[in-house]
Amino acid sequence: MTVEEKLGQLQQLAGAWETGPGGNSTKNAVESAARAGRLGSVLSAFGARSTNALQRIAVEESRLGIPLLFGLDVIHGFWTTFPIPLAQAASFDPGVARTDAEVSAQEARANGVHWTFAPMADVTREPRWGRVAESCGEDPYLTAEFTAAKVAGYQGRDLRAKDRVAACAKHFVAYGGAEGGRDYNTVDVSEARLRNLYLPPFRAALDAGAATVMASFNTVGGVPAHGNAHALTEILKHQWGFDGFVVSDWNGVRELVAHGFAEDDAAAARLALTAGVDMEMVSTTLREHGERLLREGRIDAGRLDDAVARILRLKFTLGLFDDPYADEGAAVAGPVPATRRAARAAAARCMVLLKNERGTLPLRTSVGSIAVVGPFGDSGDLLGTWAVPAAAAKYPSVRVLDAVRRAAPGARVTYARGVATEGGDTRGIRAAVAAARAADVTVVVVGEPPALSGEAAARADIGLPGVQERLIEAVARTGRPFVVVLVNGRPLTVGGWLDSAPAVLEAWHPGVEAGNAIADVLFGKVDPGGRLPVSFPRAVGQIPVHYNHESTGRPYAAGVKYTSGYLDLPPDPQFAFGHGLSYTTFRIGAPRLSRASVPARALHAGDTVEVSATVTNTGAHAGDEVVQLYVHDVAASIARPVRELRGFERVTLAPGATRTVRFRLGARDLGFWTNDPGGVFRLEEGAFDLYVGNSSTATAKRRLTVT
Ligand code: BGC
Repeated sequence: MTVEEKLGQLQQLAGAWETGPGGNSTKNAVESAARAGRLGSVLSAFGARSTNALQRIAVEESRLGIPLLFGLDVIHGFWTTFPIPLAQAASFDPGVARTDAEVSAQEARANGVHWTFAPMADVTREPRWGRVAESCGEDPYLTAEFTAAKVAGYQGRDLRAKDRVAACAKHFVAYGGAEGGRDYNTVDVSEARLRNLYLPPFRAALDAGAATVMASFNTVGGVPAHGNAHALTEILKHQWGFDGFVVSDWNGVRELVAHGFAEDDAAAARLALTAGVDMEMVSTTLREHGERLLREGRIDAGRLDDAVARILRLKFTLGLFDDPYADEGAAVAGPVPATRRAARAAAARCMVLLKNERGTLPLRTSVGSIAVVGPFGDSGDLLGTWAVPAAAAKYPSVRVLDAVRRAAPGARVTYARGVATEGGDTRGIRAAVAAARAADVTVVVVGEPPALSGEAAARADIGLPGVQERLIEAVARTGRPFVVVLVNGRPLTVGGWLDSAPAVLEAWHPGVEAGNAIADVLFGKVDPGGRLPVSFPRAVGQIPVHYNHESTGRPYAAGVKYTSGYLDLPPDPQFAFGHGLSYTTFRIGAPRLSRASVPARALHAGDTVEVSATVTNTGAHAGDEVVQLYVHDVAASIARPVRELRGFERVTLAPGATRTVRFRLGARDLGFWTNDPGGVFRLEEGAFDLYVGNSSTATAKRRLTVT
């Protein structure tokens, strides 16, 4: 390969001729780069015919005929839009993520896509950050389990298969730590926090075989991730032995200049390649300056070859050298009944019953009349932030109103919007109130439009937008029974109106089958078994508020001055991590240990301790409970979180049924990473408190001693 051809493999251009920072390529520019062998990959082009047309240019008209790699953001569905990743995490069932990934992979690969920019493995404690919607929330253990499941679902066992795509664990690293929740903002973390909080889901993605990793837009300790050799080379490639490739984020290499880290584009190219970026998305600094940098000895020829080899390796693994084309006859053109069924089941599994007084839910299908009110009651815009635009245009979500009508065919169902999703117009509230007065029960569907979460969608006020709270309050004043259904992409502050609402169902952005899945839960066809993967703050002023915080020397004590709290609010969230109700009741017995003490030596050698508990359905309906195990290292050489999730299992039990849930704790679960930049994992002797229950506030505990 000539130097030009090598640099070409490192180049990825946008093929959708869309707009975004850093400029876009015209169709001509992409085609002529492919012809000249100066293009390795294209993002955002899809469809068997159009990808094949471009592929033919690369394969048949370029000197070496190296096939292009087509990448796309398939985040929670391609044609069949599944619930947003945050919702999926709420299912506490990694099988949900796996199913999404399998359906996505099949639909995407059939449309010429080889590679998805997912899963997002970023842990975040920032509900203001719009990309919390794309995350699995605030816990590294839960995020790791879901990330691994997604990678397995996308990639399967053989990437040559025509229903699999290569995965990309993103964004490396600590992107979710953006100060103030503003996208792309600074992140400054200790080595210990980096390794204990942000890195584990990436490690899990690689252990599951993730083919690629994407660098993140933020700085880490002052060094932008795209120029961060510690993260990209020392940790990822050397310590973890990652042999896939690192793709930059959109224009991320050139943005090293805006970061104030590189003087100009040539310096950005040199710094990024040297730090470990292998492929440049959208910006063209390596293509423009690479040859000169190499001639002047400012980039290393070995490093360039390494980057090229990493990229070519994936093309071989995908089978592109043998069969570069998508089968135009087999193209999947939309959701089919089986994928819709999967999306509906997934969405219902993700919903979290936050509150349910006086058995308001489930609704009876025999109810005489139902009023559906609120701006999302008759909306097809419940797909979520990363729905593929073509899918959003053709396959909007099933409307709640339609689904309620189908679920309760004998009922008189009326609809009044009341208010818009945003803005201050309250004139429609009167009609909504009249509808509520005339109905046996009212379903108020409120929330955030998907455009208010996702990338570059930070909010400083995370309450319900517009005057939707006024609508809920007005319905409450009728004194008639009602339920609130929330559709949103982030934790919301649910302050004022919460006390007056007898029942609140968190439905997130449920995807293409939204209305049906919401109706399934409202009418009790599906028991709400989802649990919160993030804390819901009482007020923005509490942020960051997360269950796995470290202790202080003065832990909060109610009513005691000089402890770590607020004068005007309790320090704990409105709804805690792991919280969620069911239509039935459960009793979780006291945790049992297979032994009360264990030598550290034995744990290091692979031994484990079993923690078990019985869970019984004590109610009258079949239902789902999520049994959760938390660990607290009582004293360690660095302050450890007050609790850390180390196991969970979602069980479905018939009334009266009992099951024993078993978890195993090993060295990985009890030890931690220190601040040593070389990466030191330590398991220290001493006491550990183990909590088992149905949320992060579980009180039943046992002590384990590591000797
Ligand atoms: C986002 C990535 C995404 C990429 C390509 C960027 O702006 O940060 O998550 O994969 O665009 O669309």
